[in-house]
Amino acid sequence: MQRFKEDFLWGGALAANQSEGAYLKDGKGPSIIDILPVGAPRKRGLKDPLQALEQTYDYYPSHQSIDFYHHYKEDIKLLAELGIKCLRTSISWPRIFPNGDELEPNEAGLQFYDAVFDECLNYKIELIVTINHFDTPLYLATEYGGWQSKQLVGFYKRYCETIFKRYQGKVNYWITFNEINMILRNPFLAGGLIDTEKGERQNHIFQAAHHQLLASAEATKVAKEIDPNMQIGCMLAAGSVYSYTCNPKDVQAAIERTREQYFFIDVQVNGTYPYFAQRYFEQHDIQLSISKEDADLLAKHTVDFVAFSYYTSRLETSDSELRKNLIEGNAMASVRNPYLKDAGWGRQIDPLGFRITINEIYQRYQLPLFVVENGLGAEDEFVEGQIHDYYRIDYFSQHIKQMAEAVKDGVELIGYTTWGCIDLISAGTGEMKKRYGFIYVDLDNEGKGSRKRYKKDSFSWYQKVIATNGADV
Ligand code: BG6
Repeated sequence: MQRFKEDFLWGGALAANQSEGAYLKDGKGPSIIDILPVGAPRKRGLKDPLQALEQTYDYYPSHQSIDFYHHYKEDIKLLAELGIKCLRTSISWPRIFPNGDELEPNEAGLQFYDAVFDECLNYKIELIVTINHFDTPLYLATEYGGWQSKQLVGFYKRYCETIFKRYQGKVNYWITFNEINMILRNPFLAGGLIDTEKGERQNHIFQAAHHQLLASAEATKVAKEIDPNMQIGCMLAAGSVYSYTCNPKDVQAAIERTREQYFFIDVQVNGTYPYFAQRYFEQHDIQLSISKEDADLLAKHTVDFVAFSYYTSRLETSDSELRKNLIEGNAMASVRNPYLKDAGWGRQIDPLGFRITINEIYQRYQLPLFVVENGLGAEDEFVEGQIHDYYRIDYFSQHIKQMAEAVKDGVELIGYTTWGCIDLISAGTGEMKKRYGFIYVDLDNEGKGSRKRYKKDSFSWYQKVIATNGADV
């Protein structure tokens, strides 16, 4: 039996907000991520963005980042040498509409992506583009209250029309929102919400998510009108939720966590809120304003594929004592799993969980899947121009083997893009030392370094994986 189909899209993933830098360059406006510093104050800022807005920090990692804006030719050349068949990246919304609510786009911003996409296409690298990856224009957050305002649906629609028309024929795969369920844990980064600590937190989050779902449906509608061949995907931060024990109370707790994970994807795939939504809203005192037009829009414009990130599985319990001691996960806290190895930064490594997760998503949706993030954030040692990252090779080797098992199970997978194929700024901590790439960038947590690129040992390893279509892992 064939493991990966001939046109399987092996690749790497980046996001504008974590790689481009070039803050306010060529007409770009500030985005929500641009007010966040590095380390512990960043965590405070994510929880309380109003306080971050009022402060001035010495260093903002997104302002220069790895400066992909000026290094894109060199970086894409290296990625082409790596052999990638596709690149997942994102467009910075405030580079195109600096405040977000303008009527006309910023031509210089559009030209930058013309150049990046053309460069990729010259190397026959297929593009997968995320429309909104943690960088809603800051102005929309401060002046409109972020995605809580329904007006953002219209602004996002205009942004989509602009980029779909401009990059028609160049970009075939679009992802409407990065990790849409992240809004439940990180309402500022994912939804531009700045006052969710006060009062009706849950209500605001779900109303904002509802607006994103409308925006996603609008994007699908507009894309199909412009070019029916465009493939529109939704995306979730995935990771199966295991029950801590066989105690039915634990199983129920795990089911409830699982429902939260799929809540919004259920809408994007099925066109309607899931059967358990009503009870969930009642229990959490959530009153959504959903009009008949909203319901029709959601029903008519569902997605073509389901994309997801996978870093680890999660573990849930009904025991309130155990729940006091959670590990951070990928912003989704979890009980520590005693069967898994720790990977640092509150994550555990679960390759078999990858196969389990892929199957779980496919069973639920029966749509083509795209793994658009997977990887190991680790501290690399740079010795005389070399980086021996055997731990990263081990991580990927184990995960790709499990992905192959999922394909053998019968899952339809479009492709696989590893997160941060070039080292970039961590979204959660703002650090550089939490590195994911096959390509090392000489830059530290304080923004010091030459930004020179170096190939790690994992570079030639992944090159071989791609060249053999996953046979040599
Ligand atoms: C995902 C995000 O949640 O995880 C990325 O889509 C992020 O933007 C990635 O970078 C890894 O998380 P972190 O916090 O290590 O950067």
